[in-house]
Amino acid sequence: MTAVTGGFGLLLPEERADAAALVRQGFGIPREYFDRSVELFGPDVMRGLRAGPETGHAGRLVACAAVWPMDQWFGGRPVPSCGVAAVAVDPAERGRGYGTALMRGLLEEARAGGAALSVLYPATLPVYTRLGFGRGGVSFDWSAPPAALSDGPPPADGWVRRADASDASPLAALRRTLLTTTNGLVERNEGLWSFALCPDGAPSDVYTLGGAGGPEGYIAVVPPADRKLTVADLCLLSPRAVRLAQSFLAGYRAQVDRVSWRGGPDDALVLLAPERGVRVDACDDWLLRILDLPRALESRGYPPGVSGELVLDVSDALIPENSGCFRLRLCGGTASVRSLPRGPDSAPKAGGRTDEAVLSLSIAALASLYSGHKGPHALRQVGLLRGGEDAVALAALFFSGPTPWMPDRF
Ligand SMILES: CC(C)(COP(=O)(O)OP(=O)(O)OC[C@H]1O[C@@H](n2cnc3c(N)ncnc32)[C@H](O)[C@@H]1OP(=O)(O)O)[C@@H](O)C(=O)NCCC(=O)NCCS
Repeated sequence: MTAVTGGFGLLLPEERADAAALVRQGFGIPREYFDRSVELFGPDVMRGLRAGPETGHAGRLVACAAVWPMDQWFGGRPVPSCGVAAVAVDPAERGRGYGTALMRGLLEEARAGGAALSVLYPATLPVYTRLGFGRGGVSFDWSAPPAALSDGPPPADGWVRRADASDASPLAALRRTLLTTTNGLVERNEGLWSFALCPDGAPSDVYTLGGAGGPEGYIAVVPPADRKLTVADLCLLSPRAVRLAQSFLAGYRAQVDRVSWRGGPDDALVLLAPERGVRVDACDDWLLRILDLPRALESRGYPPGVSGELVLDVSDALIPENSGCFRLRLCGGTASVRSLPRGPDSAPKAGGRTDEAVLSLSIAALASLYSGHKGPHALRQVGLLRGGEDAVALAALFFSGPTPWMPDRF
């Protein structure tokens, strides 16, 4: 990776007010919210980029971002990832390459620190797609009239109990099942739990849902306002938990016109809604960057019944170690990756065998395939991947699984 000049590094305490001003200009975030977020995520969360000596204002902070390590789950296993948020460049300095330089600096740092992936929500695409990010998954805003969510009494064999919202650990224990059974969810740190349970800084009320065997999920709701009910967080691990949540939300029908919540495309409340009226109010894509190709592929889980070998011929303009041919071998739900030598013309060589299943794609397209957001047929159809029928069919099996999503926004 190319080294960044101009002073990339940890944000210094004396630069905090300048960073808060950049974030205010970038996202309209007030100083108190910025300070609260930095406290929650920890003092090491912010990075800064200073102007270089050629500028006339050398050393001045021109860009900043927040970055933190976390696990992101794919195929039932945690993959070391790096969350990125609040990427902001001084409005007087935009379009001069600082945003790109800042991102390069923090991707390089994250990779050196062991992250296999990086994930972010983009406000704009070009700066990130050029850096090798691909579409990784979605985050849906669903809403419905409360009466559309339930048409009967709550299940007699279940219970709903108010929980202590200040202690996220029992909720994290429940949520772990969700992490292992879907794709794309991130392991929350204190900051992300606070964002989830206290959207806009206001605490939500948390209720645990369960049956005779114990808790089977939870639901966190913000007190209703303006005839709307916002579900701050949701984890429903059984059909009974879904039915309990449905009747819990339908109980607000005299108070609110709509209930909103975040979820994925296969949302349980949507799948079991007995009446029309559920709609998608928004769908945000999040982007994924594969920082360390072998580590990313070997860390995630795969369908246990699938085995085989696939050669990935990958191009990565930013991280040369990710460029070239890699043999991906799958067995028993785990993968091993071996880098293949290059040919005499320095072109990557797929191992010399003519019967190999080979896929050629960019590191950004591999991110979409890896997460399960887009299958190889769809990627090939739009020209983001090249490969024969056998290779495409095999890749479809390797990367099959639940559609990746996440409710967390950062
Ligand atoms: C988006 C942003 C970080 C880009 O930083 P930057 O220093 O202007 O970007 P660069 O100069 O490195 O340019 C990289 C690419 O970003 C895009 N870009 C440049 N200025 C931009 C702007 N003002 N708004 C949106 N995108 C812009 C262009 O595609 C550019 O490529 P080009 O030079 O070939 O046209 C910056 O505009 C910003 O702080 N915006 C407000 C906050 C924001 O939206 N942050 C992103 C959150 S994910």
